[in-house]
Amino acid sequence: MMTNLPSARILAIESSCDETAAAVIENGRALLSSVVASQMDIHARYGGVFPEVASRQHVLSIIPVIEQALAQAHLTLADVDAIAVTRGPGLAGSLVVGLNAAKGLALGANKPLVGVNHLEGHIYSSWVYESPLSLPGGESGTEAPPAPQFPILALLVSGGHTELNLMTDHLTYRRLGATLDDAAGEAFDKTARLLGLPYPGGPAIQKTANDGDPKAFNFPRARMDNPWDFSFSGVKTSILYEVRRMQAAGEVIPVADLAASFQAAIVDTLLAKTVAAAREFGAKEILVAGGVSANTALRAAFLGQDEFKVNIPKFAYCTDNAAMIAAAGYFRLALGHTSALDIDVMPTWPLL
Ligand SMILES: Nc1ncnc2c1ncn2[C@@H]1O[C@H](COP(=O)(O)OP(=O)(O)OP(=O)(O)O)[C@@H](O)[C@H]1O
Ligand SMILES: [Mg+2]
Repeated sequence: MMTNLPSARILAIESSCDETAAAVIENGRALLSSVVASQMDIHARYGGVFPEVASRQHVLSIIPVIEQALAQAHLTLADVDAIAVTRGPGLAGSLVVGLNAAKGLALGANKPLVGVNHLEGHIYSSWVYESPLSLPGGESGTEAPPAPQFPILALLVSGGHTELNLMTDHLTYRRLGATLDDAAGEAFDKTARLLGLPYPGGPAIQKTANDGDPKAFNFPRARMDNPWDFSFSGVKTSILYEVRRMQAAGEVIPVADLAASFQAAIVDTLLAKTVAAAREFGAKEILVAGGVSANTALRAAFLGQDEFKVNIPKFAYCTDNAAMIAAAGYFRLALGHTSALDIDVMPTWPLL
């Protein structure tokens, strides 16, 4: 157990993909500011993230975003105790921009540097709460909502990852299973493209699914050797064949029904496996993290069961942000896990 947590204010930077973000957090939970500059509109033109464009956008945004995060928290660099930064996984050219900015700040202000795993960041978004201190004219002294209680069954569902981990304490994980092919977010993005919906696919499918019947198509729920693994490529392929068959027959493609049925298949699988694993491994609570946790059908399904308390971040902290990196960075700092100034980015870096 982690006892005697230190009092510390962390400035964090996130630039692993197409969001340039900075945030300040106090004691790992109380968020004083969070700024996210999204490049989504730029990449939407290419139908996905264009790495070189992303990296150069980070170069343009990184300093203004950091300045804004400090200003919103009514702080200067001298007031923070450490600089946390996403070291990986992500796009190398994007990560480098955030890491170098963080190194510059750490060196210039003589503060410790804490390299953070982006996936650990997603998980720690459930510890974040918005402190009224961050609001102009806000008052201090608001009570913190209860922190997630260990052992926790953590479902990570993002653009690049889908994993079930048992978290027995802070920063302590046991991998139960993961996707054998596409990540859930990736399945949303690929299926959206197939249905002619715009990038990013998750929000587009969600919107279209609102007008569709989730029972119109019964897509296969894959059976795995390890019951805690996932596979989403089968659903995607089923949709592809369905669309091709209908095209060949000259039928109108029922995009809304396909989107709703696809979404239902993904959500059903994620919920069923997570709850079964929580039961099997004696978890007290469930935690859902990563971009797909922004999905309203998924949130309704998880919050609709009453066997386990479910921790899901507010919408703003589901997709990439720096608040979650600040939270994870705080708990790493508490363990003394600081980084040397010559660390490199880690474009592929598993959580464990
Ligand atoms: N409302 C939604 N419904 C379903 N999927 C969504 C929704 N909002 C975002 N997503 C999906 O979440 C993914 C982005 O999440 P996130 O930013 O956490 O991923 P990433 O940072 O690209 O990947 P990783 O965190 O694995 O490195 C995309 O695949 C996107 O389609
Ligand atoms: Mg992410």
